[in-house]
Amino acid sequence: MTERDLHADVAEILLTEDEIGAKVRDLGARITADHAGRRLTLVSVLKGSLPFMADLMRAIDLPVRIDLMEVSSYGGASTESSGLVRILKDLSASIANEDVLIVEDIIDTGLTLNYLMRYLRGKNPRSIKVCALLDKPARRLVELDIDYIGFEIPDEFVVGYGLDFGEIYRNLRFVGVLRPEAYES
Ligand code: IMP
Repeated sequence: MTERDLHADVAEILLTEDEIGAKVRDLGARITADHAGRRLTLVSVLKGSLPFMADLMRAIDLPVRIDLMEVSSYGGASTESSGLVRILKDLSASIANEDVLIVEDIIDTGLTLNYLMRYLRGKNPRSIKVCALLDKPARRLVELDIDYIGFEIPDEFVVGYGLDFGEIYRNLRFVGVLRPEAYES
């Protein structure tokens, strides 16, 4: 693994760094306009959403608080959702009466977000919305309302810009499709 060429494991670049940057600025502007005069609490879901959260928060021109949760939905290095969601790190502060925006890297089956929405609603926020950079609608198992979507992508396993396979590839600046050989080996 130490000698691995990250770029060689990527079959195709789906979204370039520039395309992602432009989309994040656009999402930030829309979120700013939709919440004028309000304060937002951005709740990001580690670890995959880390680069998106860092960029999106700076594209939003409002008073924002941030909080971080960590959940696990995939066991080990598998590319299939287990349907099991575990909270590894909870919120640090109360979201009661706050306008909350969940910042997610990718919605795949939707099981993680579905669980998270129910969990956070139980904490009595004033409102909850969702902003996801990537959406794979072909794989959805639960119906979800996603308020802000960056890109719809085909049913392929992608890595980069926070997304991993076996904890690797998160630091790629683009989003790319992983060669099947990279996860079958
Ligand atoms: P869901 O519960 O199936 O919607 O899965 C959501 C989580 O699975 C995401 O937050 C990612 O961590 C992970 N995931 C889903 N699809 C991909 C992918 O194509 N590449 C990397 N991680 C993914």
